[in-house]
Amino acid sequence: SSTTTGDVYEITQKVATAEILDGVKTQLWGYDGLVPGPTLMTRRGRRVTVRHRNALPVPTVVHLHGGHTPPEHDGYPTDLILPVDADDATTEHGHGGRVSHGERVYEYDNDQRAATLWYHDHRMDFTGPAVWRGLAGLHIVTDDEEQALPLPDGDRDLPLVLMDRSFEADGSLAYPSVDETLTTTPGVSEPYEAGVLGDVILVNWTPWPFYEVDAVRYRLRFLNASNARRFRLRLDPAPDGVTEPFVQIASDGGLLAAPIAHPHLDLASAERQEVVVDFSGYRAGQRVRLVNEFGGGSTRRVMEFRVTRTASDDSTVPDSLSTVEPLDPAAATVERDMVFRSQAIDGQRGWTINGEPFSVDSAHAAPKQGAVEIWHLYGDFHHPIHLHLVHFQVLGRGTKRPGRFDHGWKDTLDLRPAEQARIIARFDGPKGTYVFHCHNLEHEDMMMMGNFEVT
Ligand code: C2O
Ligand code: CU
Ligand code: CU
Repeated sequence: SSTTTGDVYEITQKVATAEILDGVKTQLWGYDGLVPGPTLMTRRGRRVTVRHRNALPVPTVVHLHGGHTPPEHDGYPTDLILPVDADDATTEHGHGGRVSHGERVYEYDNDQRAATLWYHDHRMDFTGPAVWRGLAGLHIVTDDEEQALPLPDGDRDLPLVLMDRSFEADGSLAYPSVDETLTTTPGVSEPYEAGVLGDVILVNWTPWPFYEVDAVRYRLRFLNASNARRFRLRLDPAPDGVTEPFVQIASDGGLLAAPIAHPHLDLASAERQEVVVDFSGYRAGQRVRLVNEFGGGSTRRVMEFRVTRTASDDSTVPDSLSTVEPLDPAAATVERDMVFRSQAIDGQRGWTINGEPFSVDSAHAAPKQGAVEIWHLYGDFHHPIHLHLVHFQVLGRGTKRPGRFDHGWKDTLDLRPAEQARIIARFDGPKGTYVFHCHNLEHEDMMMMGNFEVT
């Protein structure tokens, strides 16, 4: 590969406190005590080494979501980093994973196209509560192709990490919690069936913030880092005379071939959408609300942009952004069905793939290295389906073409109830075992995960 030796980061995972809600302190788990964790700004082909020290009271696992990463650095759910002060004799070592003591060094070749990746905890059975407490951060890859584009950059490039959370009266994070106002999820009959949902919307860990913007173009990098909440974002009001103010330039796996204008933006858990919004369609002094049409009450508000002043702007969104070569279905050597649904396992309801709960000992698929495969995904519910290692393309949904947010390279697909979606991927990358799973973190923790082994 073309990777050069590169940057070394040291991150300590630790307990910290922050004043998120006025007047009360919240205890959190943060990378370096921060939520989101430190943003790693990286370049394609420049190796990134991250030494994670675990000063938390529980074992952790770090996964780089969207990373083209060899298995030993991918954050397999049982590859635990035990706490620095763990007593070896009493610590359960997990199911034969690659366990390390106190710290672990992750290496990322970063030999992949520019994209907004993110890293988060991935410990077996406990990913939901760990991410809820704050273990998530951005890992941004840039490259020459992207740098040559005249897109807004510098302080006009805003990462916006969306997370819903609930709090107790004393400020502590409430987990699990249920959003009783959520009425838009069909078929939910039991608490937590839709996952854990909060009634406070945080953007970069601040509740319902406002951002001051000049009346110019901005690049907004949205990551939905919520455990389970889906967002439909809309600008209220839209700029004068503009019905499609979100000009999407990138998704999970980086730049689209060409920009796509949208009236609203949908994001399921773990999805990224990057858009350019031209605030020159507003007048100075105007307040623009970003609302969540899938929410109600307190979860309908997300944040506000306050347009301060006119300013010069030499950014543009070119008609052509990148080359996204379509994978050819005729090149696929294997087709597989993956059924994601809830069912009883040993008398308890759980979430399964092809009828099986997650087991470290069995694989749902063994793609040959370099092979192109088509997977047919079926769901009984909203399941944001994520594959490690590879990015995929969406071939269609049901009898229809891909949805409006399915373009480019994806690593997470927002599978809807009673829907069948077809994705295509080339399994190039190091041999070994990786997971794929529902990224509703409560579904994941309740076993909606499987292995695929690249052979
Ligand atoms: Cu973002 Cu396996 O996860
Ligand atoms: Cu991932
Ligand atoms: Cu799910």
